Amino acid sequence: MKALVLSGGKGTRLRPITHTNAKQLVPIANKPILFYAIESIKEAGIKDIGVVVGDTKEEIKTALGDGSKWGVKITYIEQEAPLGLAHAVKISRDFIGDDDFVMFLGDNLIKDGIVSLVDRFRESHSASQILLARVAHPEQFGVAELKEGKVLKLVEKPENPQSDLALVGVYMFDKSIFEAVKNIKPSRRGELEITDAIQYLIDHKFTVHPHIIDGWWKDTGKLEDILEANRIILDTLSKKIEGKIDKNSKIYGKVVIEQGAEIIDSVIRGPVIIGENSKIVRSYVGPFSSVYYDVTIENSEVEHSIILQKSKIKDIKRIEDSLIGQNVEILKSKTKPIAYRIMVGDGSRVEVI
Ligand code: G1P
Repeated sequence: MKALVLSGGKGTRLRPITHTNAKQLVPIANKPILFYAIESIKEAGIKDIGVVVGDTKEEIKTALGDGSKWGVKITYIEQEAPLGLAHAVKISRDFIGDDDFVMFLGDNLIKDGIVSLVDRFRESHSASQILLARVAHPEQFGVAELKEGKVLKLVEKPENPQSDLALVGVYMFDKSIFEAVKNIKPSRRGELEITDAIQYLIDHKFTVHPHIIDGWWKDTGKLEDILEANRIILDTLSKKIEGKIDKNSKIYGKVVIEQGAEIIDSVIRGPVIIGENSKIVRSYVGPFSSVYYDVTIENSEVEHSIILQKSKIKDIKRIEDSLIGQNVEILKSKTKPIAYRIMVGDGSRVEVI
């Protein structure tokens, strides 16, 4: 069995972060989302992984390399434009050959992994296994209609969803999917939809096995989903202190302080992770915060937020519910006239008090 990990796409719902970065590389608890997918695949015993890349290919290649870090073999497959998930399958034919495969969307996170799901597919001998999860807003996903445990119909982002069962971004296929992707037409959004390809399998009497997952799953396309994923994953970490904490600081609960990080005269209330070589000085970092590497937080309070590498926060009363990009500086205005002086990227959102 092989795996196909999709890491293209524009990440429009996460702008401005994705103007300069691949959405799959945003860190959740200080680890890029994409790494969780690779780990889940490896855990399921699959070592031959094709990674479909688009505009952000250099960044993805730098992050994953040849896969040896995880003991897997990575082959890169270039998609010239984001023409859809089924298009990604189409261009991966040579890599997959006649093998069965798992297709994993690089921005999806399944907390309990995919080991039992892959085993179930191997035993089922079906053309495809799809995973479904109950969601509050099915119109934002591919939606399945089931009858007596069988898939009747799949519709991509329907205006009037007929159920609350969303297609999770992890699919299992045998080679019949290549016949399906050859025979479907682009959707209204101009993409070859994997949802339509699976509908083709159903219409042509191939067995498509639905499995409703009850564990936690997230498509991390939007800020609130990223923050939720961060909360869930931080909660699973155990306390580990590798950096330095001075005697005036207090650490409560599940806190990870990575190597070279320094906590000076500060309070850290977990679950929190502070990345390599970051410095927290005269500050408070509260629950569900991930501070990536080389960050400085000085004389400020931060809670329920993700702060990316090399950013600097100084003299700020309180930051909450935020995702702060790389190399960002947030400082107090000191020169007269006192004012907000802002340079933010396109599509940013700033709330001030
Ligand atoms: C894609 C699929 C959709 C699925 C979702 C899961 O949507 O088209 O059917 O429910 O992934 O993450 P997209 O993220 O491309 O909008």
